[in-house]
Amino acid sequence: MGRLRTNSGPAEDLLIELNRDAGVPLHRQIEGSIRASIRAGRLRAGASLPPTRTLAAGLGVSRGVVVEAYQQLVAEGYLASRSGGYTQVAASMPPAAAGGGSAASMTQPAARSAGFRAGFRAGFRVDFGYGRTDVSQFPRAAWLRSVRTVLTTAPNDRFAYLDGRGVPELHGALCDYLNRVRGTSSVPDNVVICNGYGQGISLLIQVLVRHGARRIALEDPSPNDDARVLAGAAGLDVVGIPVGPDGVQVEALHRADADAVVLTPSHQWPTGGLLSAAARAEVIRWAKRRGAIVVEDDYDAEYRYDRSPVGAMQGLAPDHVVYCGTASKTLAPGLRLGWLVVPPQLVADVAAAKVLADRGSPVIDQLTFADFLVRGEFDRHLRRMRPVYRRRRDALLNALRTRLPDLEPAGVAAGQHVVAWLPPDLDEAAVVTAAARHGLGIHGVGPYRIAGTGPGGLIFGYAILGEAAIAEGVALLATAIREVRGP
Ligand SMILES: Cc1ncc(COP(=O)(O)O)c(C=O)c1O
Repeated sequence: MGRLRTNSGPAEDLLIELNRDAGVPLHRQIEGSIRASIRAGRLRAGASLPPTRTLAAGLGVSRGVVVEAYQQLVAEGYLASRSGGYTQVAASMPPAAAGGGSAASMTQPAARSAGFRAGFRAGFRVDFGYGRTDVSQFPRAAWLRSVRTVLTTAPNDRFAYLDGRGVPELHGALCDYLNRVRGTSSVPDNVVICNGYGQGISLLIQVLVRHGARRIALEDPSPNDDARVLAGAAGLDVVGIPVGPDGVQVEALHRADADAVVLTPSHQWPTGGLLSAAARAEVIRWAKRRGAIVVEDDYDAEYRYDRSPVGAMQGLAPDHVVYCGTASKTLAPGLRLGWLVVPPQLVADVAAAKVLADRGSPVIDQLTFADFLVRGEFDRHLRRMRPVYRRRRDALLNALRTRLPDLEPAGVAAGQHVVAWLPPDLDEAAVVTAAARHGLGIHGVGPYRIAGTGPGGLIFGYAILGEAAIAEGVALLATAIREVRGP
C-alpha cells in the first residue's frame, strides 16, 4: 500500500491510498480517492491539487497515471484545468451533503425534495434527475443588453414599491407573447408576476381557500413537492385524478366533487401525455357547470419537437382558467420568474396575496425580461435551444431502443424529460436502487402517485446531459436491470 501526504503547502496536501494488490488499475484508485474526498467535503470547491509530477513522484507511479486520473475527473466535472497548468476542484461542486449521503440514499424519499430541483447531484456518474434546464446556455449577452437598457432608460418611479401585480411593461410584453405563441386570451390587467410556478400555485391556493374551496383535484401522478403539499397545509382535501396516455381522465374529474383542478395539459408531468381537444372541452364544461377553477401549469409548452405546440386551455375559458407560466424551463430556474393570467374576479385577491407574501418580485428582473421579450430575444433563445434538447432526446430514445428495447418510452414529443414504462417483471424501486449502486441517478414514477398503484416507470431528465453521457447512463441502467433480473 502506498500513501502520499506531503506537507509542503496546501496544494500538495492530499491523502491517497494505493493498493497494488487490489487488481484495480492505479489511475482508477487515484480517481476514486479524489472523488471520495470531494464528495465528503475534504476537498472543497476551488482547492488546488498537486501538480501531476509531484503527486506521481510521491505515490511512486508514472506521471501518465496521475494525468489519466485528473483527466477523467475533469471530464466528470469534479475537477477543472486552469491556465498555467494547474488543476482545481471545480467551482460548481456543492458542499458535501449533510451526513455524507451515499448515492443510494440520494434517491430515497427524504432526500428527494432537496435533490431533484437542486441542479447537480454529486455521487452519480450520470444523473437523469429531472426538473433541470441547461443553464449553461443562458443567453447572458442578450440578457445583459436588456439589463443595460433598463438601467439606462427606466424612470425612477419604477424602482419604488409597486402594486402586487408587478411592472406594467412586463404585463404588456407577456400578453403579446402569450397570445401570439400560446393562444391565450390575456389582457395586461389580468397578469400577476410571481417567483416561478412554485409561488404562483401557493398564492392561488390561498385565494381559492379564501373563496370557499374545500377540495382540489390533482393529476395522479403529479409532483409531490408543490400543489399537493401546499393544498394539504391549507386544509384542502386532495383528490387524485388518474392520468392515462392522453393526460388526465376527465370522467374521474366529474366524480371528484372538487372546487379546482391543477393540470399540465400540454405535457403531463411526469407521464408526458397531451390532453386531447375533446378532454379540454370537457374539463372546461365541468368548470363552468361547477363554478370551479382550472389551474393550467404550462411549464413545458415551449419545447415541442414533433408537431406545433398546442394552444393553452386558458384561451378557451379565461374566466375559469388560471394560466401559469415560468422562465424556469426556458431560461433558468434561478431567475425565479413566473407569471399568472388570472380570471378577472380573482386578480385583486391574487395581487393582495403576492403583496403579503413578499411585497412584489424584483423590479429590475421584471423590466429586463420585458425588454428581452420585446426585442425578440426570448423567441431567438427558444429557436436556438429546441434543436439542442431535441438532439438529447433523440440520443436517449436511440440508446433506449438499442439497449433496453422492452422499456416503453412515453410523452417523448415535448419537454425536457421522458418517462419509460417498465415491463411487468421489473420492480421499479429495485431498478432505481440498483441503478444508484451503478452510479446512475434516476427517479421512478411511484413516489409521485397519489392513490397508489400503476405500472412501474422511470423518469429520464435529459436536458443537461450531453449525448455521450446519455448513452453512458442508459448503459449503466442496462447493467442495473440485468442485475435485477438475475441470471
Ligand atoms: C410540473 C412542473 N411545473 C412547474 C415547474 C416550474 O416550477 P418553478 O417555476 O417554480 O421553477 C416545474 C419544474 O420543475 C415542474 O416540474
